[in-house]
Amino acid sequence: MKRDEPPLGNIRRSSPLMARQLDLFATGTDQPTDGGLRDPAFAENKALPIHRWVPWIAGYSAGFVDDVLATYFPRNSADGSPPVVLDPFAGVGTTLIQAMLRGYQTVGFEINPYAALAAQVKVRAPFLDLSKLKPLIDALAGSSRKWQSKPKQACSVAPKGFRSRIPFFSPAIEQQVLCILDFINSIEVEDLRNLFRIAFGSVMVSFSNYTYEPSLSTRPGAGKPLIEKGDAAAILMEKLRQMIMDIEWVQAHGYPHLHLSTSHQVFNANFMTTAERQLSGLPVDLMITSPPYMNNYHYVRNTRPQLYWLSLADASSALKQLEEENFGKFWQNVRTAIPLEPRFTDSKLHLLIRQLQQIRIEKGPYGGLGWANYVTAYFNDAQRFFGVLKSVLKPRGVGLIVVGNSIIQGIEFRVDEFFSELAESEGLIVEGVHPIRQKRVGASITQSSVRRGERNGATLYESAVIVRRSCG
Ligand SMILES: C[S@@+](CC[C@H](N)C(=O)[O-])C[C@H]1O[C@@H](n2cnc3c(N)ncnc32)[C@H](O)[C@@H]1O
Repeated sequence: MKRDEPPLGNIRRSSPLMARQLDLFATGTDQPTDGGLRDPAFAENKALPIHRWVPWIAGYSAGFVDDVLATYFPRNSADGSPPVVLDPFAGVGTTLIQAMLRGYQTVGFEINPYAALAAQVKVRAPFLDLSKLKPLIDALAGSSRKWQSKPKQACSVAPKGFRSRIPFFSPAIEQQVLCILDFINSIEVEDLRNLFRIAFGSVMVSFSNYTYEPSLSTRPGAGKPLIEKGDAAAILMEKLRQMIMDIEWVQAHGYPHLHLSTSHQVFNANFMTTAERQLSGLPVDLMITSPPYMNNYHYVRNTRPQLYWLSLADASSALKQLEEENFGKFWQNVRTAIPLEPRFTDSKLHLLIRQLQQIRIEKGPYGGLGWANYVTAYFNDAQRFFGVLKSVLKPRGVGLIVVGNSIIQGIEFRVDEFFSELAESEGLIVEGVHPIRQKRVGASITQSSVRRGERNGATLYESAVIVRRSCG
């Protein structure tokens, strides 16, 4: 295995797509690093059409995806069916949208129903009929004016299973929210209804008594005042107008390869258990992804408001199931289990896990033992992931995985290096580990529930691990 070589030598420094997108919004972007890949921070997505619709903790930006596509498909032939690009942990669809705009077939898996719906809505957005969408926004404006002058008794009710430490919405806002949900549920065309649902999901926390910091917290807990009053419909309509602007922009600029007939699928499913069946007739040319990092960022808990209020989940048992199936699990789910058996054979990783088990042993699940279980569960899933990836890649197909290292209870886990070992043990060829960026010392995980870990001075960094299936 070659390490730290720039395997992506042939990277296009800029692309017409990015140039046009950036012209429109006149925002700066990170230039490609010497190795050729742009800093993958999602921040750039906040300024890009369609990509900016739904905030998500993501591994990279649209520009990064562009660079990878340009590297692996320098001559995207117009003949035959376009190559297939897969994102097994699609989040809100950064890879899928960018690959779609460039004319590739795309397929994504995303276990979180809210993120999966967002990715689906974004992938279909360029094909929406705006002449049907705009009147709906006018109708919402008209209806909301009426609710304000004469309060309406909504048919929708607050989701029964949804619990929050303080009232999620103040009474006045909740009344508006229920009227908005009535309106959304009455939209007949499914794609348009889903667009409204995602618009609502992306703004609902902004008029609630909660805030993303980046985990979901109460506003008072984050030193912010409660929100007693506000015009929720106006905030939603502003979001919808932004969406229309982006769709108009994509439709007006035209993407020569963008066709409704090209296949773009998003499965709201667990990649590990469903991919082999779903992809049996669709061998993958290129996989680009960032799985959850080993930092216990809780995607499920942080999207509880959207999952419940958009009727994507209705009971804590559904969320529990989601947590169990999440790549890497969550510390909260595995900390009390008896020590988990590693399914991988990497002896350095075994050693580190044993060291971790010894730290603050007296704290039981809250000390090293609990965290060792979390690390074991994470790499067990990684091992399984590489096995499934191998079976869905075409011979000579490539996978690029963006991942960061983690410092847990003071022990550094160089996740990229262990991923390389696991991929090799599953029979994939590791073409290289390409450093992308470094961050400040001290991870969020060392500052939160694991902050009692000693600082060991390690730098946090992110890398792209590049694997290939052999030709056989
Ligand atoms: C780092 S995020 C990916 C972000 C994505 N690159 C984007 O730009 O939106 C990882 C995603 O993996 C999803 N995920 C976790 N376990 C999964 C599984 N077993 N199958 C499919 N998706 C999963 C999480 O819900 C999360 O959205």
